Amino acid sequence: MKTFPCPRLVLLGVAGLLIAANTFAQQPAPLTTPPIQVPPPVLPPPSLPGLDGLIVWDAERKEVTVPNGTPQAQFTFNLTNISTETITINSVSTSCGCTVAKLPEQPWHIAPGTNGQISATMNVAGVVGAKIKTLTVNSDKGSKLLTVQGNVLPPSATPGPMTAMDREANQKLAIADRQAVFKGDCASCHAAPAKDKTGIALYTEVCGICHEAKNRATMVTDLHKLPYATTPEIWRNWIAHGKPGGLMPAFAQAEGGILTDEQINSLVTYLVSAIPSKPVTAPAAVVH
Ligand code: HEC
Ligand code: HEC
Repeated sequence: MKTFPCPRLVLLGVAGLLIAANTFAQQPAPLTTPPIQVPPPVLPPPSLPGLDGLIVWDAERKEVTVPNGTPQAQFTFNLTNISTETITINSVSTSCGCTVAKLPEQPWHIAPGTNGQISATMNVAGVVGAKIKTLTVNSDKGSKLLTVQGNVLPPSATPGPMTAMDREANQKLAIADRQAVFKGDCASCHAAPAKDKTGIALYTEVCGICHEAKNRATMVTDLHKLPYATTPEIWRNWIAHGKPGGLMPAFAQAEGGILTDEQINSLVTYLVSAIPSKPVTAPAAVVH
């Protein structure tokens, strides 16, 4: 629970912010994308002769950035057989045991005009910075070299307690796009905890983070003191659609939100019982 901070702490906080601001000044890269130390690329030529012109790839090189402490980075290559013959991929070899490729089947017969995916998992446990590996796709028509790069963020970039600066920046982002809370780094606090939850647990994670926060911004309504009568439909509308032009996001998946209909229903059921409605019609003023 937060209490009002004592002035000395506030001063310390301000000093801290100044030092932090100074540190930022020396390191121009924003907190969310810290500089990644990319080792000088000692890469084989981008592709071996063979499959070019027969298969098209959505990319020959994939890059994934994960928070510090993530054990694995995942990559998926989409491919289409643009030739007129079936191509058989016999195997995919990788440049180290730390990277494992997966095919739908082995050998994998890809009919002309059809597409499919090759996925790869790179072990990045204990890594900070970039790790680059290659995959060699071996087929009956030739081979193809693909590159994967896993970037592991330094521990400092992994979400921690918010500072006043973070909060202001977050609010600016949310004003520009109220769905921003579900994207990028915001999702780690505002979206990921919703997974597989319903009812009170879901409310606590995805609604309570804003509405029950002790030090929430003034524009975040106190849901326990709504000035009007509530109905299940009112709750549902707010949750599903939020408020365009405001900070309240739309949670319905149809509007770019993160909650299934079942999850929204569970919230409505919870809210109807947890926050009883005011009387539907305000009692008429008694005039004598
Ligand atoms: C480390 C967890 C965390 C991350 C990451 C995070 N938030 Fe928040 N957010 C919170 C908490 C906790 C609150 C409740 C208010 C508080 O404690 O300051 C909040 C409140 C908010 C609010 C309500 C206004 C307010 O300040 O009370 C908005 C809008 C918001 N966040 C947007 C964002 C956006 C946009 C991002 C990404 C750019 C983001 N948040 C990233 C934890 C987080
Ligand atoms: C990112 C912070 C944030 C999150 C997360 C959030 N809200 Fe809101 N919500 C707001 C803000 C800000 C408003 C005020 C909207 C306005 O009037 O501009 C609001 C408004 C509302 C209102 C209308 C209150 C009024 O003033 O009439 C309801 C109801 C509501 N939210 C319910 C929810 C529920 C339920 C959830 C969880 C599914 C949720 N909110 C999640 C920020 C948030």
